[in-house]
Amino acid sequence: MMACQGWPEPVIRVQALAESGLTTIPERFIKPKSQRVTTTNNNTPNPNQSNSHTHDDRENINIPVIDMKELYDGDERLREEAFRRVAEACKEWGFFQVVNHGVSHELMKSAREVWREFFHQPLEVKEEFANSPLTYEGYGSRLGVKKGAILDWSDYFFLHYMPSSLRDQAKWPALPTSLRKIIAEYGEEVVKLGGRILEILSINLGMTEDYLLNAFGGENDLGACLRVNFYPKCPQPDLTLGLSSHSDPGGMTILLPDENVSGLQVRRGEDWITVKPVPNAFIINMGDQIQVLSNAIYKSIEHRVIVNSNKERVSLAFFYNPRSDILIEPAKELVTEDRPALYPPMTFNEYRLYIRTKGPSGKAQVESLTSQCDSTCA
Ligand code: OGA
Ligand code: NI
Repeated sequence: MMACQGWPEPVIRVQALAESGLTTIPERFIKPKSQRVTTTNNNTPNPNQSNSHTHDDRENINIPVIDMKELYDGDERLREEAFRRVAEACKEWGFFQVVNHGVSHELMKSAREVWREFFHQPLEVKEEFANSPLTYEGYGSRLGVKKGAILDWSDYFFLHYMPSSLRDQAKWPALPTSLRKIIAEYGEEVVKLGGRILEILSINLGMTEDYLLNAFGGENDLGACLRVNFYPKCPQPDLTLGLSSHSDPGGMTILLPDENVSGLQVRRGEDWITVKPVPNAFIINMGDQIQVLSNAIYKSIEHRVIVNSNKERVSLAFFYNPRSDILIEPAKELVTEDRPALYPPMTFNEYRLYIRTKGPSGKAQVESLTSQCDSTCA
């Protein structure tokens, strides 16, 4: 698979479309029925609508919340219990929220709000940073280059933070003027948080605490990038999605959701659970590379984003990834006779071409690797 030079058809800026005041959405955004939002579980398309008058038990389900303070300075028993809860969240959900994570709440807020301001600038200011599928860096509106693909109801900005050789502030928005400084600071804090979480995961997997960080290339070489998602209001939210179902291809994602508007849904069997963000928390999820390294003890989880007609939504997805050119394969210690290696070695560079070409497609990619491995990886 080759990376493409250009987009296959003229780019549609979803925010500009939404702001044009249309009352029905173009056909290009209408999802097949099987992918649309249904109202049988807690995934109401209207985040402001209360569920209190339904009698569905699932409305109260939420992903686990981990108090990171307990992982460090609780008494021994509390600490073990907190580690155990993280392990369970990784195995059962692949998603959890963290509080007392050490990142300044002020900084989280200013990072989100400076990006909101970015998106509310005139189109020309944003178009200066228009991206291409070659690197995806910059202002974009689609994922994947399949001509005629059904599109998602969102725009985004994608930038590299690590390794420092790829960090080029000239490719980050110049306006608002405070953006570059805030995002540099935010990146630094979130990378630190990512490092702490990787240590916890490594210990829980029975490895040394630096195992995953080293597998990712070490603190100077790991990959880290930020995808800021902007989901405009949508006049027909039940016909489309803000972001189609996918698992994150990288290592681990540290998501800062919008304070006021929910939208992220996590797949649980046949249900979609709407995540209710806890104030000042980050949402953490396992990506495909952690599934590979852990030999599927931890799994990446399918998730998607729904939109609504009343409120725009801004989220910052910080991807904490392996260096792009090292081979990622199941840890030797986690491969046994009973549990042979489920995945062949592959670099993240090679791996991510799939989503960059085909767009979001559930868990198709990591599952196709398992089948390749039936006879060859043990
Ligand atoms: C992503 C993602 C979720 C959200 O960017 O990969 O899943 O809530 N975002 O925006
Ligand atoms: Ni995602």
